This record gives sequence, structure tokens and C-alpha cells, in this order.
Amino acid sequence: MIRKMIISCVVLLGAASVSVLAEDGAAIFSAKCAICHGKDGKGQTKMGEKNGIKDLTDAKYQATFTDEQMLKTLKEGKKVDDKVKMKAYDTILSAEEIKAVAAYVRTLAKK
Ligand code: HEC
Repeated sequence: MIRKMIISCVVLLGAASVSVLAEDGAAIFSAKCAICHGKDGKGQTKMGEKNGIKDLTDAKYQATFTDEQMLKTLKEGKKVDDKVKMKAYDTILSAEEIKAVAAYVRTLAKK
């Protein structure tokens, strides 16, 4: 009996931490990324227009970069002509948070 309870607790905890991660990605995106990329990821913001930010909900655009490239962009930032367009997030977000937000970005294109 007790054993069963422990097992179901572990299962529940596991499920909870996975969903927290996905929600974290959405929360991080709206807190740190939406200012440029837009809440919906389409990049229809002032910053987006100025910097020619592409539509992250476009699956074709998302296919132009790999997960590794996206993680690198998030960690190291993005420079165009030596000007920082997107800052490096490695000191702002933890590795887990960067992964969570990258996973969230991938969900944008599937909708
Ligand atoms: C100061 C504005 C700004 C902020 C804030 C910002 N970005 Fe960007 N981002 C850009 C610009 C500019 C580009 C390059 C233009 C493009 O290709 O759309 C870019 C490109 C990207 C790309 C394309 C990947 C690649 O390698 O080219 C992804 C994915 C991305 N950003 C995700 C994010 C995430 C996630 C956050 C929040 C942690 C974020 N961005 C915050 C401006 C910003």
C-alpha cells in the first residue's frame, strides 16, 4: 500500500516537473523575448520592424536553423554587422531555462 503511494507520488512529481518546464518556456518568452519577437512570436513589434525580425510562427523559417544553432544564438546572442541585435542570455537565464524557451519557440511554429 505504502509502496504504491510512493510510486504514484513519484509519477505525479515527474509529470508536474515536465509541465512546469513547458510553462516556464512560455513565461520566459513573454518576459524576455516578446518585447522584440512579439507575444505571439510573429515579430510584429517596433523592435521587430526595426531589426527585420522574422516570423517565429513560420515553420519554413524555423526550418532554417537547428536546435543547436538556436541554443547558440540564445547563449551567445546575435550580431549583425558587428552590432548586437539580440543579447546573450547565458548570464541571464540558466541552461535549463534556455532549453525550456527554445522548446517553447519550437511549439510556436506548429500552431
Ligand atoms: C532586443 C531584441 C530581441 C530580444 C529581446 C530577443 N531577440 Fe531573438 N532575435 C532578435 C533579432 C534581431 C534576431 C535576428 C533576426 C532574425 O533572424 O529574425 C533574433 C533571432 C532569434 C532567433 C532565430 C535563431 C537564429 O539563430 O537566427 C530565435 C530562435 C530567437 N531570436 C529567439 C529569442 C528568444 C527565445 C528570446 C528570449 C530569450 C529572444 N529571441 C530575445 C532580437 C531579439
